[in-house]
Amino acid sequence: MTSPTYQGLPLPLAPHITETREFFQALDNFTRTFAFRAGDRVLLLTDPLLDARVVEAVSGHARARGAVVRQYMEPSSRVERIPDSVKPLLEEATFVVSTWFCSIIDPYCIARRRQGQRWVKITYFRNLDLLRTPQARFPIDLVGEITRATARRYPQGVDFDLHFTDARGSDFRIHFTPQMRENMLSTNRWRGRMGADEDGCYVHYLASHGPNLWDHNAVRNDLSVPTQMSGVLCPQWAVGFARPFEERIAVHFEGEYVSRVDGVSKEAVTLREMLVGGRMIEGGGCGFNPKAPRHTIYPAGSNAPGALHFGIDLARPADYIRKTLPDWEEPPVHVDLVMLDATVRAGDALLIDQGFLCALRDPEVVALAAVYGDPVELLEAGVD
Ligand SMILES: [Fe+2]
Repeated sequence: MTSPTYQGLPLPLAPHITETREFFQALDNFTRTFAFRAGDRVLLLTDPLLDARVVEAVSGHARARGAVVRQYMEPSSRVERIPDSVKPLLEEATFVVSTWFCSIIDPYCIARRRQGQRWVKITYFRNLDLLRTPQARFPIDLVGEITRATARRYPQGVDFDLHFTDARGSDFRIHFTPQMRENMLSTNRWRGRMGADEDGCYVHYLASHGPNLWDHNAVRNDLSVPTQMSGVLCPQWAVGFARPFEERIAVHFEGEYVSRVDGVSKEAVTLREMLVGGRMIEGGGCGFNPKAPRHTIYPAGSNAPGALHFGIDLARPADYIRKTLPDWEEPPVHVDLVMLDATVRAGDALLIDQGFLCALRDPEVVALAAVYGDPVELLEAGVD
């Protein structure tokens, strides 16, 4: 007797039945995100490992809209400051598409955006084939609504703590004043504006890395302003490690800086060498795209809704990263700690419940999802 073949679930549909429809669905997000205007002067800041078809796709779309494109390539995307030689090109551009690490934080880039320059960061669009993924075709307006629904949960007009906990014993607080809340939530990404159509905007494409639950936007990107925070994080994993940690590793903070790392495993020793003295930059990066894969943390995630990563800038470049991730998009002075099951409160309001982003069940989000399909499938059938 051979055992029967069990088939209780539908067979996957043949690709030719779905791929064209899905591709055009993704293209709509693509063209609306790269919201070029006639007369835009577009500058692509690239690196040699970027799929040339991405450059071609962006350039073709720009030409269709009456925008002109220039490209400048550095030897890698790990550019930590805008080189002086590139500044004249940036002065002329109205729209920048960039793979470079420094895009978000370099004061020069921030100043250009304050003058109206629009930016799209393409860390998550390094390969044209990504247009074929579920996260690429997930409606960007719905990602925006999920983001806004999360923003609405932040207490208004009062001081509060953003409080991170989990079953491993994480207990970490970041203090917010009403002014910090207003500064941070007024950025285009927290307002759920997903297309680069607004002067001064900064958006990610693919739309998966959401805005951070806390970052220096709360102090208008003045890194000299200290933020009141402290506690311990017990990450499950970190970018640059093949699989989640088996040991409970505890990363202690005094203010924004890592003071101690507890643990005896090889991974804990490596993290201790890298992290002590490092500074919290991104606490925490949160996913907002329900179709972003939960267990893909490379290059800088996970970006599944409610999955968190904490970006730490290191006191010195880490040999471990230089050896393990020689072609990483980020320089070896940055580590992303990952927590897939955290609970996060803003004051009394629950933002994330054991890794589940609570806004996914907000009535406004469910109502908008119903326009595009079955809300439960769209919002809660995640990608592992
Ligand atoms: Fe991040």
